[in-house]
Amino acid sequence: MPCRLDPPPPLPQPATALPAALGWIDSALDRLDADGLRRQIRIRSGRQGREVELDGRRLLNFGSNDYLGLAGDVRLTRACSKGSCAEGFGAGASPLVSGQSQAHRSLERGIATLLAVDAALTFPSGFAANAATIPAVVGDGDLIASDARNHASIIDGCRLSKARLIVYPHRDVAALEARLTAAGPARRILIVTDSLFSMDGTIAPLADLCDVAARHAAMLMVDEAHATGVFGERGSGLVEASGCSDGVHIRVGTLSKALGTAGGFVAGHASLVSWLAHAARGWVFSTAHPPGVAAAATRAVELLAEEPFRRRELLAKAAAFRERIATTGQATHRRIASDLTSQILPVIVGEPGRAVAAAERLLDAGFFVPAIRPPSVPDGASLLRISLAWHHTDDDLVRLADTLQTVLA
Ligand SMILES: Cc1ncc(COP(=O)(O)O)c(C=O)c1O
Repeated sequence: MPCRLDPPPPLPQPATALPAALGWIDSALDRLDADGLRRQIRIRSGRQGREVELDGRRLLNFGSNDYLGLAGDVRLTRACSKGSCAEGFGAGASPLVSGQSQAHRSLERGIATLLAVDAALTFPSGFAANAATIPAVVGDGDLIASDARNHASIIDGCRLSKARLIVYPHRDVAALEARLTAAGPARRILIVTDSLFSMDGTIAPLADLCDVAARHAAMLMVDEAHATGVFGERGSGLVEASGCSDGVHIRVGTLSKALGTAGGFVAGHASLVSWLAHAARGWVFSTAHPPGVAAAATRAVELLAEEPFRRRELLAKAAAFRERIATTGQATHRRIASDLTSQILPVIVGEPGRAVAAAERLLDAGFFVPAIRPPSVPDGASLLRISLAWHHTDDDLVRLADTLQTVLA
């Protein structure tokens, strides 16, 4: 029987009036309310899994990034306990001082082996990995070309770098090439893309991007946050699956999605990793993540090799789900981009209010499928984001497809 925590105390009412200097915040929150963009923080009780308890409601869970069903796996909990027991819970310092422990080193070796590269560096989050790495490899006088739908952490990394920025239309390699040619000379060029786009479920044209990078003597950085663990024979991601390992210079991923733990990593050539250990400020100036978390992530990386059936079955379920929607769910099907082949299925609904209303109807029917609104997606393209996971049964998928059809008809 899994243990349970005591329920948290209720949130207190504000004890004092909002200070005048912060008065703008209430106006900004009111505007979010008026635009249908105010967020509610749902509280989960218990573990992530096929079912999840949110705000006291037990729901079939299509709203986590726990793609392989590892986040609640007791083997990771045990590995975390062992790592914490051996090295304590807190890392106690930044990695260059005394925070980097055996647990971190083992994890970095495990990731490097998984990706078949020289070396890896782990960060407290995937967000930190992107935000710290981009300014470490480009700066003033350099040029970045970034896909228009890249993750916020890439966007922030680009902004922090002070390099000149080209944002090319989503997956449009011809436009990228034209803009790079028009941009003229730069000291260094970085092309950066997600491999599997988290909100669109689309996949970057990695082989073409490698060609463009080679023609422009550019560095190519690929963020595999949602692909790590799911794609590729070894499970390392889409770079492996598309045979592009040689053309991608900087490989980023997270441990917090399919690997069910927490943290981010950057992997590649030994010199790149040595450089980041000097220049990636989010690594140098931040406490290393807890050793127990690193030990759990190391176990999750091992499980990718021991249990390849998880990723194979997940992708087979995703294909079957898409097929069912194509044959029996026209109302849903026409809202899904047609070329998707991943475990992420966005169902475009349009205005934020409509997406929230559709998500509410799904909740009433027992399904958790989050509504995603701007700024996570462009204006007018709010969507229901269905994340499929290994633990979903065939019956779960049939019931979700049929319920979606009713909700969206
Ligand atoms: C493409 C991409 N990169 C990075 C991140 C950040 O990863 P983490 O959640 O480990 O901070 C995310 C998270 O959603 C993501 O979707």
